[in-house]
Amino acid sequence: MEKTLNTSPLVWAHRGASAYAPENTLPAFRLAAEMHADGVELDVYLTKDDQIVVCHDNKIDRTSTGSGLISDHTLAELRAYSFHNSMDAYENTPIPTLAEVYELLAPTGLSVNVEIKSHDSRLPAMCCDLAKRYGMEDRVYYSSFYHPALLAVHDVDPYLPVAPLFSDNLVYPWLYASTFGAQAIHPHHGALRLSPEIIRECHMRGIRVNFWTCDDPEIILTLAKAGCDALITNKPDVAIEVLKNAGLYN
Ligand code: G3P
Ligand code: CA
Repeated sequence: MEKTLNTSPLVWAHRGASAYAPENTLPAFRLAAEMHADGVELDVYLTKDDQIVVCHDNKIDRTSTGSGLISDHTLAELRAYSFHNSMDAYENTPIPTLAEVYELLAPTGLSVNVEIKSHDSRLPAMCCDLAKRYGMEDRVYYSSFYHPALLAVHDVDPYLPVAPLFSDNLVYPWLYASTFGAQAIHPHHGALRLSPEIIRECHMRGIRVNFWTCDDPEIILTLAKAGCDALITNKPDVAIEVLKNAGLYN
């Protein structure tokens, strides 16, 4: 695995550089690479015809010109809509498949944090297979609020890095993460009361702490100084600038 655990934090672009380009689309991921993010975070679902697509909501109403559940549409049907998320400069942007994102990012060296949104029990193994097919298996990190999905990833390979997502102030999160061999925890930046102590406890057990979604320079700096491993942000350019100015960017 790459730099983390007490080095400078990685910057992962949340849904791509989504402050500037439509979230979870190829332009947003391309922009993240251009901004020199270390990786991107994205969300995945299965279509009606079992294609893995990248979208935050289970419905397409908010981000596209269409409506309804992703699982009620085939990929071809979804392709009829634009996912420009009301950003007029990006009209006619299609929903990407996870395969297309891997194709785009494979040559860049960026990591991909795949957040498994759907509870479809087939999806975790399908994501793992796809990463392998694109030679991305060493650069993909799996997270989910639905923690059984992470066990399903470990059913494929217990060494794949998985991280439970949570937004509450869990006590002893390292104990929970250790019970199923999680490589990291992904708390909301307001959780854990930004405690350096909790980060230290996690690090002592080899567990990384990657916070979301950190756009505020003050929060970015606080978390970086506390020793976090990755910052998931809509504004990778801002995060990189803040870290550089503080001498915390490698
Ligand atoms: O993975 C971090 C973050 O994306 C989780 O929340 O709702 O933005 O998917 P959400
Ligand atoms: Ca997400």
